[in-house]
Amino acid sequence: MGRGSVTKTALITGITGQDGSYLAELLICKGYEVHGVIRRSSSFNTSRIDHIYHDPHESGAALTLHYGDLTDSSGIISLVNRIRPDEVYNLGAQSHVAVSFDMPEYTADSVAMGALRLLEALRHADWEPRFYQAGSSEMYGMVREVPQRETTPFYPRSPYAVAKVFAHQMTVQYREAHGLFACNGILFNHESPRRGGTFVTRKVTRGVAQILAGKAEKLYLGNLEALRDWGYAAEYVDAMWRILQHHTPGDYVVATGEMHSVRELVDVTFGLVGLDFQDYVEFDERYVRPTEVDQLLGDATKARDLLGWEPRTGFRDLVALMLANDLRDFGVCTDPYDDLAGIVSDRPIRGIESLLSQGTFAS
Ligand code: NAP
Ligand code: GDD
Repeated sequence: MGRGSVTKTALITGITGQDGSYLAELLICKGYEVHGVIRRSSSFNTSRIDHIYHDPHESGAALTLHYGDLTDSSGIISLVNRIRPDEVYNLGAQSHVAVSFDMPEYTADSVAMGALRLLEALRHADWEPRFYQAGSSEMYGMVREVPQRETTPFYPRSPYAVAKVFAHQMTVQYREAHGLFACNGILFNHESPRRGGTFVTRKVTRGVAQILAGKAEKLYLGNLEALRDWGYAAEYVDAMWRILQHHTPGDYVVATGEMHSVRELVDVTFGLVGLDFQDYVEFDERYVRPTEVDQLLGDATKARDLLGWEPRTGFRDLVALMLANDLRDFGVCTDPYDDLAGIVSDRPIRGIESLLSQGTFAS
């Protein structure tokens, strides 16, 4: 067990991504020794975690990074056995739904087989690790009921979603067959200023910032009618942690219970800076998917009742937080905009736990 009785040890795959960076902050705040898996890249890919990383030569560093890849079994097995983590959070994935239509095989390898490789490594552990699988509301696809809960059947609509269903069922399988403390979080869309730029929320907030900075004239989007349940990523990683602290392993929906369309997202974002989106947004067929998920709406009652988890940040506040950060990144002053001026930077300047207790980063 890592540092034995001193603290718990966690291993995070996908630590360089949006969720991985928030989760690493949260666990470090809680006193964990955190180990993260990063992929070798020809350019730096650690910008989301640079602020919590210290030179390994310094004593007492809480975060250690290891090269690895979910497509490489031997590396994964060796890391698990060397680190002997108490908790493993499997967040690594080719996570873009549209890209999965172009790269189905790699998506399945990293998402489906990646989860299985980790589960196999943990099955043979001679300690008692806990495993969290980053499941997705995309698994509900062509939804069978509204809202979706833990018992709603899956109907995946993309290679990404099919791979996530495999990983979900394998997690259940290892729990039931091998007694592993293995859990699925079924997380609905969650966003933040750290969201990748090709997901629709960030594409829109960055797009508005680019337009105001004079760097773009138009924003090109696909289907504006899709409906999503959008929450705030910093709060969702808290749910992941709570899932692994419960006395029995289980599967949980994590969602806000509110649904908005992409059209509404665009309308609100442009509206926050006094613009009419219809003057700027153009349709581009390239962003339309072969099969679409028309609507997602989650019921997180189980997470609330068993874990005490509840979302705090509403849709408009989330969009404002992201937009304010993007405006600043593009050198646009937020002072003229009443809803944006008071929002502080998305950096853990006061520690993520105190930020979580306030609901949003807005001051
Ligand atoms: P993200 O920002 O796209 O991050 C994905 C992470 O996975 C990155 O660290 C990436 O590394 C890593 N990765 C990709 N391929 C890998 C491989 N073959 N081996 C090891 N690592 C690999 O995703 P996110 O939004 O943080 O989401 C985290 C997890 O939750 C993902 O599994 C995603 O599918 C799932 N999820 C997300 C949402 C959401 O709305 N955000 C909702 C439900 C489920 P690089 O930085 O090197 O690319
Ligand atoms: N990305 C993108 N780009 N999406 C667009 C665009 C565009 O230009 N125009 C419209 N959309 C629509 C998509 O068709 C989809 O219906 C919706 O906006 C949301 O797209 P994304 O932001 O790419 O997210 P997603 O819902 O497909 O997937 C995200 O959430 C899942 C959880 O439900 C990802 O984070 C997945 O990894 C995650 O599992």
